[in-house]
Amino acid sequence: MSHEILEHAVASDTTPGTQHFKPFEASAEIEALADERITHYPVSKLSAVLPLLHIVQHHFGFISKEAIDWVANKLEIEKIKVLSVVTFYPGFRQSAPGKFHYRICRTLSCAMEGSYELMEKICEITNIDRTQLSHHQPIVVSPCGNYSVEFAECLASCGTGPVCLVNDDFHESVTPDKAQELIDKYQA
Ligand code: FES
Repeated sequence: MSHEILEHAVASDTTPGTQHFKPFEASAEIEALADERITHYPVSKLSAVLPLLHIVQHHFGFISKEAIDWVANKLEIEKIKVLSVVTFYPGFRQSAPGKFHYRICRTLSCAMEGSYELMEKICEITNIDRTQLSHHQPIVVSPCGNYSVEFAECLASCGTGPVCLVNDDFHESVTPDKAQELIDKYQA
């Protein structure tokens, strides 16, 4: 794949949520964390792609073009190999989420308990245009940049749906009438 096509395939990373995340920087801390992780894969550095991407997303909120370049250089592999991992796993984001990112399970048990209605409610309260959610745009950010939503597949708590992750916090039995309560827990 040519350089131009690759650049085109990397999503634009600017959203109203960008204000909450510092730009990617290969600081001494990040380099040291990556170097340590790479030592766990003495046979093939390629195996360190996932851990390095997790480090990037944990520190910078999403995987930017600059971060893809850095991971590729760090592991001495082609950029396209890093990009293919980023685009394969839904857990990796290519654009900035909101300060509070809501991931709502839409798999059968949660859907039957009202997860789609919960999504509607959260979007309504946070002024997110839910119609923008699609396969090509899995995350939509509120105009203020404080909130974002995304559907998730089964989050492994099917008996207590609807289930929702807010950043790293797990919430169970979040029926649509509890949407406001869930938003109120996280104030910008
Ligand atoms: S269906 Fe939602 S957690 Fe399994």
